[in-house]
Amino acid sequence: MARTCLTIILAAGEGSRMKSSTPKVLHEIAGLSLLGHVIKTAQSAGGNAQAVIVGREAERVEAEARSHSANVTICLQKERLGTAHAVLAGRSVIEQGFDDILVLMGDSPLIQPESLLRLRRALEHGSQVAVLGFRTSEPHGYGRLLEKDGELIAIREHKDATPDELQVSFCNGGIMGLSGHKALDLLDKIGNQNSKGEYYLTDIVEVARENGQKVVAIEADESELHGVNDRYELSRLENHWQRRRRDLLMREGVTMHAPDSVYLSHDTEIGIDAIIEPNVVFGPGVKIASAAQIRAFSHLEGATIDTGCVIGPYARLRPGTDVKTGAKIGNFCETKNTLVEAGAKINHLSYIGDARVGAKANIGAGTITCNYDGINKHFTDIGAGVFVGTDTSLVAPVKIGDGAYIGSGSVITHDVPANALAVARGRQVIKEDRANFIRQRNQMIKDQKNKK
Ligand code: UD1
Ligand code: MG
Repeated sequence: MARTCLTIILAAGEGSRMKSSTPKVLHEIAGLSLLGHVIKTAQSAGGNAQAVIVGREAERVEAEARSHSANVTICLQKERLGTAHAVLAGRSVIEQGFDDILVLMGDSPLIQPESLLRLRRALEHGSQVAVLGFRTSEPHGYGRLLEKDGELIAIREHKDATPDELQVSFCNGGIMGLSGHKALDLLDKIGNQNSKGEYYLTDIVEVARENGQKVVAIEADESELHGVNDRYELSRLENHWQRRRRDLLMREGVTMHAPDSVYLSHDTEIGIDAIIEPNVVFGPGVKIASAAQIRAFSHLEGATIDTGCVIGPYARLRPGTDVKTGAKIGNFCETKNTLVEAGAKINHLSYIGDARVGAKANIGAGTITCNYDGINKHFTDIGAGVFVGTDTSLVAPVKIGDGAYIGSGSVITHDVPANALAVARGRQVIKEDRANFIRQRNQMIKDQKNKK
C-alpha cells in the first residue's frame, strides 16, 4: 500500500491488576513483549511510524519500542482522561500528516495484520473512521456497535447504554482506523459528557457522522481482540497464541506428535517435514531446517539445526549452537556456543561449550569441555573424524587434530596432533588376590565392632 500509516498504541493504563513492578505492555507472550507483538503486527500491516502513549515507566517502554522499530515517538499522557484524550497525547505525531492512523491497544497482542489491512482498505475506499468489531455471547462491559441500514451510527459504552442497546452483541474491539488528515479535527470535537466524565474515543463515530463523514464497522474474530488485564488472562492469551502458531506450522508441513505440549517462541522457525516430539520447548532464536527431528523433552534456544539432524530426547541446546546436516545430539547433552559439523555425534551425557566438533567426529558419553577457568572462557577445537573416548575432560584451550583418538577417562590438557592417540590417565595396576585380603580385613573390623 502506498499510503503512509501511523500506529498509535495506547499503553498508559496502570495495569494494576497485573500486580507487577513491570509495566503491563512489557509482559511477554512467547518470549516477546505485548508491545513487541503489537508493533510487529502493525508493521506487517504497513505501519511505518509508531506513537506509543505511556503513563508509567516511559523509559522502559521506550527502550522496548525502539528495539522493534526505528520510528517510534513516546508520548506521555499525564492524566488518564479517556481513550480519545490518550490518542490526543500523540497530537504532535498526528500533525506530521499520515494518510492512515491505526489506534491499537498495547495490551491486545493477538490482533492480526489482515484485520488491520481491512481497516486501512476501508480508509482507502473513502471512510474517515473504520471500527473493528466482534460478535460475542458475552458482551458485558464492551462498547456496543449500533448500526442502522448497514451503517455504523454510534458506539455506546456499556455504562451509558439503554436496555435495548445492551441487547446488541456486536461489540467494539477498541481498535480503529482513522483518516490521518481528518483525525485531529474530529478528536478535538469529542467531549466528556458521559457517565465516566471521560473523553471517549468511541464518540468519534457520531462526531464524524455529524460532519458528514463515512464510518464503517468491520468484523473480526473475537479471539483477536482479547486483551490482557491480569496474569490469568496473560496465560490464556499465551495459550491462544501458542495454539494458533502450532496450527500454522502443522499446516505448513511440520509434524507434531503432541502439539499441546510444544512451547514455541515468537520467532521459532521450523521447516517442512521436521518432526517435533512431545514436550519440546523453544526459547528465542531457534531455526529448524526441513526433516530435522527434535525428540521429546528437549530445550532449545539460540540454536540453528540443519536438515536431517536428530536432537534429543532430553537435549539442551543453548545459544550459539549450530548443528550441521545429519549431526546428532542425544540424551542429557548440553551444548553452548558450539559448531557441530555434518554427521558428528554427541550422543550421551556431555557438555560441549565454546567448541567446534568436526565432521563425523564421535564424542563419547560423559565428555566435558572444561571451557571456563572461573574468569575466562576458552575454546576447544575438535577436528574431523576425531574419536573421543567416554568420560573425557578436554581442558580448554585445546585442539584435537583430525582423526585423533582420545582414550577413555582422559583429562586432555595439551593439543593432540592429527591421527595421534592420546591417553591421559593413571595406568592400570593388577594385584593378584588382593581383593580377598581386603574382604577378610573388612569382615574382621565389622566382627570386632559387633563384639563391643
Ligand atoms: C474500550 C472502549 C470500548 C471497547 C473496549 C474494548 C472506549 C471509550 N471504550 O473500553 O468501547 O469495547 O475498549 O476492549 O474507548 N487508555 C489510556 N489512557 C486513558 C484511557 C485508556 O492509555 O486515558 C488505554 C488503556 O490503557 C487501555 C485502552 O486505552 O489499553 C483502553 O482503555 P480501557 O479503560 O481498557 O477502555 P475500556 O473501558 O475497556
Ligand atoms: Mg479495556
